Amino acid sequence: MKRQAIVAANWKMNGSLSLIKEMISALNSVKLAENVDVVVCPPAPFLSAFAVCAQSESLQANIHLGAQNVSEHKSGAYTGEISTDMLNEVSVNYVIVGHSERRSVYKETSTQVAHKVKATLNAGLTPILCIGESEDERTAEQTETVLASQLQPVIDEIGIDKFIDVVIAYEPVWAIGTGKTASPEMAQATHLFIRQFLANANQIVADKVPLLYGGSVNAANCEELFAQTDIDGGLIGGASLKVDEFKIICSSA
Ligand code: G3P
Repeated sequence: MKRQAIVAANWKMNGSLSLIKEMISALNSVKLAENVDVVVCPPAPFLSAFAVCAQSESLQANIHLGAQNVSEHKSGAYTGEISTDMLNEVSVNYVIVGHSERRSVYKETSTQVAHKVKATLNAGLTPILCIGESEDERTAEQTETVLASQLQPVIDEIGIDKFIDVVIAYEPVWAIGTGKTASPEMAQATHLFIRQFLANANQIVADKVPLLYGGSVNAANCEELFAQTDIDGGLIGGASLKVDEFKIICSSA
């Protein structure tokens, strides 16, 4: 089945207003395949500027704005947090939820991640749910157990039927920012496991959910990764900050 393909840029704590402008004008010249969406997730202070610039430059419709994180709370005394309503106000469509850096550095638990996915969906936004194992976990052959333990709390929280509106990004932690990409075969095998795990609960949902690969994706390896049956695009870190390289990755999807 032909699924929606997505290439998402996670700038993390990098970038600038000038990169926003440069990226928007570069992306406007990319020829994207019909079923491909591009999502740019700059740091929160730049979301509004992206939205304004995208409108004034008439950015092509399949290029969207995403946030890197969101609060599970609606509003209130949560200093430093950003709500789904605020993201909606600045034309955000996607939210990265549960990135491994949020899980490891900010100690977000899978339960909290599940609450964030629910809040995101309730606000009409699309969560990009990140899951992935550490190097030690892969070596100990615990990859599938870890992925299941990250997925199940979300299924329990939102129900499998609502998963149809979720995007999953499989990002092996050992491949993030290290230059050690998972081989296309290894990534495919893990994506297949994720799809089968969802299929055990609901085949229709499993067939529809886009599964993105993340971890040292670049212009040289993207084509082979994206060609795998169960890889529907990528979540790109470092290479998404380089305009020309990101354009190549987008047109490879
Ligand atoms: O979310 C994207 C990510 O963590 C991968 O980063 O720099 O390895 O492409 P990178």
